[in-house]
Amino acid sequence: MHQIKLADNIYFLGFNDRRTQLFENIWPIPNGISYNSYLIDDDKIALVDTVERQFIEDYLDKIETIIGERSIDYLIINHMEPDHSGALKAIRARYPEITLVGNKKTFGLVESFNIDPGKVLLVNDNDTLSLGKTNLQFQTIPMVHWPETMVTYDETHKIAFTGDAFGSYGTLDGGVFDDEINLDFYEVDVMRYFTNIVGKYCAHTQRAMKKLSGLDIKMIAATHGPVWRTNLDWVLSRYTKWSAYDMELGVVIVYGSMYGNTQKMAEVIARQLSVRGIKNIRVYDSSKTHSSYIINDIFKYKGFIVGSCAYNNALFPNVETLLSTIEHMAPKNHYLGIFGNFLWNGGGVNNLSKFAEMIKWDLVYEPIEEKGSLKADKFRMCIEMADSMADKLLQTTEPETGISNRSH
Ligand code: FEO
Repeated sequence: MHQIKLADNIYFLGFNDRRTQLFENIWPIPNGISYNSYLIDDDKIALVDTVERQFIEDYLDKIETIIGERSIDYLIINHMEPDHSGALKAIRARYPEITLVGNKKTFGLVESFNIDPGKVLLVNDNDTLSLGKTNLQFQTIPMVHWPETMVTYDETHKIAFTGDAFGSYGTLDGGVFDDEINLDFYEVDVMRYFTNIVGKYCAHTQRAMKKLSGLDIKMIAATHGPVWRTNLDWVLSRYTKWSAYDMELGVVIVYGSMYGNTQKMAEVIARQLSVRGIKNIRVYDSSKTHSSYIINDIFKYKGFIVGSCAYNNALFPNVETLLSTIEHMAPKNHYLGIFGNFLWNGGGVNNLSKFAEMIKWDLVYEPIEEKGSLKADKFRMCIEMADSMADKLLQTTEPETGISNRSH
């Protein structure tokens, strides 16, 4: 069988999942996802992470084609989330003498899954493990993406096995290494994986990257998506930017609208932003676009304007869900605008105001609330909100972008 190798004795054991609709049962993955495990075949044999449980049988078969009847000495657990530990129990059953390698946070989680860890090797930062020719070093990177997460660094081949960090949605459709793939395909999926899964932990990501910057890394082998061996800067530079909330000049407008009145306000604001020279404007109907994509654009663009009609004296439910996700992920440093509509009672805009108070972003204009159809005074306010947002954005970025500040 054709084997995919990262080095003479290091094998890629990845599987493509094109069946799962929602990753973590939340996030849409129309392009699927891969689960990557790695096998180091040395005097001692080690696995780095496993795969999702639907692939257990093929995973065990693949391992056997490489090592035959020999046993696996170590299973290194960089991350215990089930998409990577799904085959742990099966590996323990097939190789009962195996030693689980993890840090002080790892084995409690193993027990949480009702698995007896058995033989364990507890490692701390900078600890090393020799497999023969291959020397491994361990570095914890807590909260990228769980508390126990760590990186295993192969000092011999200078490969960093990074778990979720630098991973991506999207299956590996033939190409496994970054230089075998048109990376345009992964542009959105790498970012969506970051923003959806790791984005809450930007400060931890920055600390992790600082920690890893001391290592001479020639290859990044994540547990999802491509293995990075040629274009490491492609993914590293993006992680640096995203985790620092270094956003582009642009505005995301989201609305919840039953009969179109709130939508019309969104259209007026969007048009005026365009007149003012803002080229990146994304307008989303909260009932149509999954928050996975909206959150992604919120991490991308500095401006955020949200509108809601009143629904049973409250926010439009899909807007409420989105705002709750934003609150949970807590992205920083945005300019904010809020607007909405009601007919017989309020509930939209006053709850948007509560969100504004909580999130503490820079509110660029007073809340706008129309009753029914958009009329001249609130139309003018929508124009003014867009102007105010454009002023803030252009003031922040004009020296670098040279974008013209045209008037309407
Ligand atoms: Fe890919 Fe946090 O699991």
